[in-house]
Amino acid sequence: MKYPEQQPEDGARRIYWTQKALTAWIVTSTVVTLLVLGMLLYAAIRFLPNRAVRYDAIQEHFKYGSTGGEVNLGFPYWIWQAAPLLCPDYLPADRLAPDYRARVAAHAARDGAAERLALSREGYKSLGLIYEKGLDGRDKDLPVGVSKRRNFGLDRVFLNCAACHTSTVRDTPDSEPRLVLGMPANLFDLNRFEDFFFRCTDDEQFNKHALLPEVGYLGGDLDLLDRTLVYPNAIWLMRDRVQFLASRLGFFYKQPAWGPGRVDTFSNAKGIFAWPWKNLPGWSTERKVDPESVGTADFPSIWLQAARKKRADGAQMQLHWDGNNDKVEERNLSAAFGTGALPPIIDHAAVGRIEDWLLTFAPPPYPYPINAPLAAQGEPLYQRYCADCHGNSGRDFTGARVGFVTPIEAIGTDRHRLDNYVYDLAVNQGTLYAGTPYRFSHFRKTYGYANMPLDGIWLRAPYLHNGSVPNLRALLQRAGERPLAFYRGNDVYDPAQVGFKADIPEENGRKFFYFDTSIPGNGNRGHEGPAYGTDLSDGDKTALLEYLKTF
Ligand code: HEC
Ligand code: HEC
Repeated sequence: MKYPEQQPEDGARRIYWTQKALTAWIVTSTVVTLLVLGMLLYAAIRFLPNRAVRYDAIQEHFKYGSTGGEVNLGFPYWIWQAAPLLCPDYLPADRLAPDYRARVAAHAARDGAAERLALSREGYKSLGLIYEKGLDGRDKDLPVGVSKRRNFGLDRVFLNCAACHTSTVRDTPDSEPRLVLGMPANLFDLNRFEDFFFRCTDDEQFNKHALLPEVGYLGGDLDLLDRTLVYPNAIWLMRDRVQFLASRLGFFYKQPAWGPGRVDTFSNAKGIFAWPWKNLPGWSTERKVDPESVGTADFPSIWLQAARKKRADGAQMQLHWDGNNDKVEERNLSAAFGTGALPPIIDHAAVGRIEDWLLTFAPPPYPYPINAPLAAQGEPLYQRYCADCHGNSGRDFTGARVGFVTPIEAIGTDRHRLDNYVYDLAVNQGTLYAGTPYRFSHFRKTYGYANMPLDGIWLRAPYLHNGSVPNLRALLQRAGERPLAFYRGNDVYDPAQVGFKADIPEENGRKFFYFDTSIPGNGNRGHEGPAYGTDLSDGDKTALLEYLKTF
């Protein structure tokens, strides 16, 4: 093949155009590179930070601080605010104002953002979540027990320790509730809380088309990227994560309702290991349960952990209701699971702060009058009957059997919680944190319930591990004389019975939880007989009760 001969002008033009092309290429590629770098930098600044809201005061950290769980399960902040407004039908109707749903349904855009947020909070209150008032006299943004962290480019929220270990006390129905840190979360209905999110995320409405406008009404400051990319993905991810959780933890749909202040601790732990529960009998349909599959327990108090590190034989106390773990730090880590803080993401420093504080953090003293001479009469009775198992007093936990386990045959209380914690679960828990210094090694199967210190016992009603006895006076009666049923979830105190008001069915149209002791797992027998003070004279019981108020 023959090529035409090249002319000199052609060569010059070619060099000219080659230079032009080169310059254009350099300019374009520089611009593109800068653009890409800029976008990467922007993305990094926007999506990489992983930081929780930090609180210097330990009490604030306990109430609102993060233990790391949001990284795993955190709900996008604005979806948290929007959920009750999107799914009011899945909130417990008997705990809501009768017109709540109508107010939510009334044209959303007509309400201001502040009204809309207030409606959202009102919804969460029906699940027993507690809002403190801010300096402006309005409810704070998030309830006690919910923490916030920025991660993956958006604010995310989830439960922390305070959700299950903080509650309120009122002197009368009209008085202001007082927040008490470290006491059992008697008002929080974790059962309904989970049910609410399981159902809401499963609803066909749970999508960006319904949620993003609601976020707008709430005053959500979402920008273009949030609306087109971040939130649509986050909604999808949240739905996916919560539905996965439902598949692991939905066992409670087969159980009798827990009621506020209670959780089936170790069925949840079994959920982590994908325990098969789908074929179990269901309480609501068949009126029967598998005896090993119900272990519903009261939230405990968590004060004064340091004094729990030593019992008569020098070992640490065996704690949890059945005494299945004798290491404080391991109980804390295990508890952190409840906050979604699983091994890879838990914030050990944040948990450590709480752990250190709980070593010596003590319950508040009994705030009502105590008849000192009567209490003094009660003290020797306590020493004689109770101190061996429960410690010398509300602060001195010395006692030959404190922190040991009393066999189920002797204590005679409901055995579901005990039997629910099976040997195989203890073995499985031994694999948690494997390969790290935190590896679990202190869980064991026991055969009874733990003899625990009684610090702040006035705040720990209803009593026994399953919360089946409404007040201390009833606990000092033989089981046959204790109430067969009562109401839970009231924070008004009853100094005469020493416990919370338990005979009132509702307040302002909001129903309290009807606790039926004949249901499996709710039995109120046991802890009775001469050794447990139930055979004392009425006068002696009243003196003993008075003394217990000093704890
Ligand atoms: C989902 C509710 C929930 C959350 C969240 C939770 N706990 Fe607990 N916690 C419980 C329950 C229930 C028990 C009792 C378990 C049992 O024996 O059945 C318990 C037991 C404990 C105990 C042992 C109490 C005793 O004397 O036996 C400690 C200590 C404790 N939790 C601390 C914490 C800390 C610290 C956090 C946060 C990192 C936390 N908990 C988060 C529900 C929770
Ligand atoms: C043999 C040991 C033993 C003796 C003696 C004993 N208790 Fe108990 N006590 C226990 C155990 C174990 C439990 C937990 C039982 C359960 O929850 O099923 C318990 C639970 C309690 C509780 C409920 C704690 C809570 O947080 O719900 C109170 C209150 C209590 N005992 C008070 C007393 C008093 C008062 C006496 C003396 C009159 C006494 N006990 C005698 C072992 C004992």
